[in-house]
Amino acid sequence: MSVHVVEHPLVHDALVTLRDARTQPEVFRRMAVRISLLLAAEATRDLPASPVTVQTPLAPAEGRRVSADVVVVPVLRAGLGMLDAILELIPGARVGHIGLQRDEATAIASKYYTKLPRDLSESFVLMIDPMLATGGSAVAAIDLLTAAGARTLRIICIVAAPEGVALVEQHHPEVAIYTPVVDRELNPHKYIVPGLGDFGDRLYGTT
Ligand code: URA
Repeated sequence: MSVHVVEHPLVHDALVTLRDARTQPEVFRRMAVRISLLLAAEATRDLPASPVTVQTPLAPAEGRRVSADVVVVPVLRAGLGMLDAILELIPGARVGHIGLQRDEATAIASKYYTKLPRDLSESFVLMIDPMLATGGSAVAAIDLLTAAGARTLRIICIVAAPEGVALVEQHHPEVAIYTPVVDRELNPHKYIVPGLGDFGDRLYGTT
C-alpha cells in the first residue's frame, strides 16, 4: 500500500482552513506551512539517524542526529508553498526544482524547468506537490527524479484524488504518498472535488 493517510487532528484542522473558500492568501500561506510541517514529520519518521553524545550542563547525554542526505523537490509553482516548512525541519536539505505546467484545456503537464542536485542515488528524496489530481505531473516528476538516480522517494501532498493515487501506484508502486486525504473525484476540468480550488492561485492571490 503506497498511500499513507495522515490522520493527525492538527493536520485536519489546517486542511479545513485551506479548503474554506473564505480563507485569504495570508492565512492560506500560513496553513500551507503548518500542514506541510506536520506531513513532513510523518513522511520522515524513518529518516536514518546516527548516535551522538552531547554534553548537557549536567552530564553527557546520548542522542541521534539525522544522517541522511535529504533532497526536497517542489513541483512548481504550488509546491513552493510547502518548501519553507520542510527546510525549517531539515535546514541542511538540498533543494531541486521541477517546473511543470498544466494545459488548462487538456490538463496534460509539460516540463518547462528542471534543476536537480547532483547524485540522488543515496538521498532521501521528498517531492512536494500539494494537489495530486490526475497524477500526470506527479508521474512526470517521478520519472525525472528516477532518471536522475533517485531510489528512495516519497511524495507529500495536501489533497489527493483517487485517479492520481492510482496513476502513481500504476507507474511507480515503490513511491510512497503521504496525504491527509483522498478526495471524492476529479471534475471535468481535472480539479479535485471537493478539493480546495487552485492551490497556486489561492497561495499567491492570482485567482
Ligand atoms: N491543481 C490544483 O491546484 N487544484 C486541483 O484541484 C487540481 C490541480
